[in-house]
Amino acid sequence: MNMEYLSTQPYKGVRDFYPEDMAIQRYIFDGWAKTAERFGYARVDASIFEPSALYRAKGQENEEMVNEQTYTFTDRGDREVTLRPELTPTLARMIAGKRHELYFPVRWYSIPNLYRYERPQRGRLREFWQLNADVFGDNTIACDVDMLVYVANIFKDFGATLDTFVIRVNDRGWMNSVFDSLNLTDEQKRAMFLLLDKKNKITAAAFDAEAKEIIGADFTLPSPSADSRIMQTVNILHDLGITNVVIDPAIVRGFNYYTGLVFEIYDTNEENSRALGGGGRYDNLTEMFGGDPITGIGFGMGDVSMVNFLITHQLLPENLTPAPTLTILPLEEIAAGEAIKIANKFRAEYIATVVDATDRKLGKKLEHACDDGIKFALVLGSDEVTSQSYTLKNLFTREQTTGTAEELIKKILS
Ligand code: HAM
Repeated sequence: MNMEYLSTQPYKGVRDFYPEDMAIQRYIFDGWAKTAERFGYARVDASIFEPSALYRAKGQENEEMVNEQTYTFTDRGDREVTLRPELTPTLARMIAGKRHELYFPVRWYSIPNLYRYERPQRGRLREFWQLNADVFGDNTIACDVDMLVYVANIFKDFGATLDTFVIRVNDRGWMNSVFDSLNLTDEQKRAMFLLLDKKNKITAAAFDAEAKEIIGADFTLPSPSADSRIMQTVNILHDLGITNVVIDPAIVRGFNYYTGLVFEIYDTNEENSRALGGGGRYDNLTEMFGGDPITGIGFGMGDVSMVNFLITHQLLPENLTPAPTLTILPLEEIAAGEAIKIANKFRAEYIATVVDATDRKLGKKLEHACDDGIKFALVLGSDEVTSQSYTLKNLFTREQTTGTAEELIKKILS
């Protein structure tokens, strides 16, 4: 028979999560959740589907994102739908929708899966998860500072030291005022932001030449003054011991919605060259839903680059895959219900228990259980069932204990 078999590979740029991958994901998500909640953020989520118009609305158009990087389709009811490429517009929608019920400032975090039609590469895929944390309704310097203190703590909580990552900051408000003082048109400003975005990837001479072409004169970026918001922010952070924050005029961020502080987090190991996370302050995002603008500040960081970061710095613990604690191995003569009845006694005490009634050899079963990280085995024969006295084997130490189920439960929990 000549049959075309399907590939077992997943779709391009997405991942299958086998138990060991799932265990890593869970470790990261649990860590993210813990730090977020320690800083007072409440968890939210939404659907992966959004009306495409959400990403086209004025003031937040990111042309590359909308035109080239979204998964957009027309549903059976003729609606144009986009799989969310980021969460920020969704959050703006949710905040605007409940603006009269919410008590500001609002602190929300989430770990959504997002979809971007990107060229898959190290740290970038087509489906990824992203920690998002945003504060709405607080435009103070204290809020900017605390956001970056929180960012630094996410890394610290995974065991990272401040020399393993750097937070590059800039202020789009300040950049805009520099451009205003040069009387640049909106078109020229836009071109300058794009040029700054690639500043670290081109030579100084190439940057100067292109800048001159855009503004028609030599361009020198002034330093922010000591009393500027960005300098104050950085100084407070340094005083608070977050010393790996640096001002970098090349940080302008791809999304047009940012209006103030912008930042990106980088691994200091060049193996991971793409940003680990990024965000900033945006003042007009709820505008498209009407009503007074609500200020927001937040960031996103991806799971793919986080795994790379943790592996690079040897911060990912081994043996994250959870294993049951006990395996019950009934001999042939044992009725199915009998083994499960005993298993349930252990489960009732929150001891993770499996029953392996397959006809593989007992020796093999014990070997595999040990390899899988199962600590205890209980071989169940008719003698054990009659006497209700069982022998528990510790597969790691080879120690054996005989007793009733209650006694063995105590032993396991001790
Ligand atoms: P973003 O810079 O597009 O910002 O993404 C933030 C982070 O998400 C990146 O630094 C990276 O870690 C991760 N990321 C982005 N694209 C991919 C991809 N294709 N594969 C894997 N990871 C990726 C935003 O999304 C803003 N909405 C963040 C924000 C929240 N701003 C304010 N609040």
